Amino acid sequence: MSAPILAFDEIDSTNAEARRRAEAGEGGPLWITALTQTAGRGRRGRDWESPIGNLAATYLCTTDKSAADAAQVSFVAALAVAELADACVGAERVALKWPNDPLVMGLKASGILVESGAFAAGGLWLAVGIGVNLAHSPVAAERPATSFAEHMQAAPPKPREALDLLAAAFDRWLTRWQAEGFAPIAAAWTARAHGLGEPCVARLPGEEVHGVAEGLDPDGALRLRLDDGQIRRITAGDVFFGAA
Ligand code: BTN
Repeated sequence: MSAPILAFDEIDSTNAEARRRAEAGEGGPLWITALTQTAGRGRRGRDWESPIGNLAATYLCTTDKSAADAAQVSFVAALAVAELADACVGAERVALKWPNDPLVMGLKASGILVESGAFAAGGLWLAVGIGVNLAHSPVAAERPATSFAEHMQAAPPKPREALDLLAAAFDRWLTRWQAEGFAPIAAAWTARAHGLGEPCVARLPGEEVHGVAEGLDPDGALRLRLDDGQIRRITAGDVFFGAA
């Protein structure tokens, strides 16, 4: 059974709302969604455009996992978005780029931002923010991006309809992660991964690393094979393959 959904017409950011609630002691589980965000935030301090017609939602929950293990929830979210994308544009067009960018035809169609914090009484809160470009591509993206609508004959789903599908898929993968750990999540992610075996560049704070993406380590880090044959584990940053 999915968590309840709290729906706003407009909000600064559903992740910001989740943080406010968590810092006031609320632990979820709860979905927070809004038709539009005035200060949607992306990874690495970027803005996230949230026009009406796209999905903006955050899942707030509590976990006893360590902060490092809890971060794996971003792969759970990516798998859920991939299933939503499959239903809209066809699974053959959908892939996942490390760490958690859902792509349609190689272009970013969604973004996932996980924030977390500690409760005074113990345990962590997690805010799993998910934006999906259902109807509109971003106007000012750093890299070429897309929307589901660009790959559909019919109209894309309305945000609330998309959230119902997303929440059901997220619930299934979350239950699996909680019961069986990260291994089945990593296997499912790997089966849909974009660019494995291909050259890429990892942009890290103050550094660019070139290599070939070999796959996930058991904790979710990306294994990059460098020119000298060594493996470099990438645990944070952006990875780019050609255009994506
Ligand atoms: C990225 O940079 O790729 C992550 C984007 C995450 C956007 C979503 S939209 C819902 C939630 N609220 C936010 O402010 N950000 C996330």
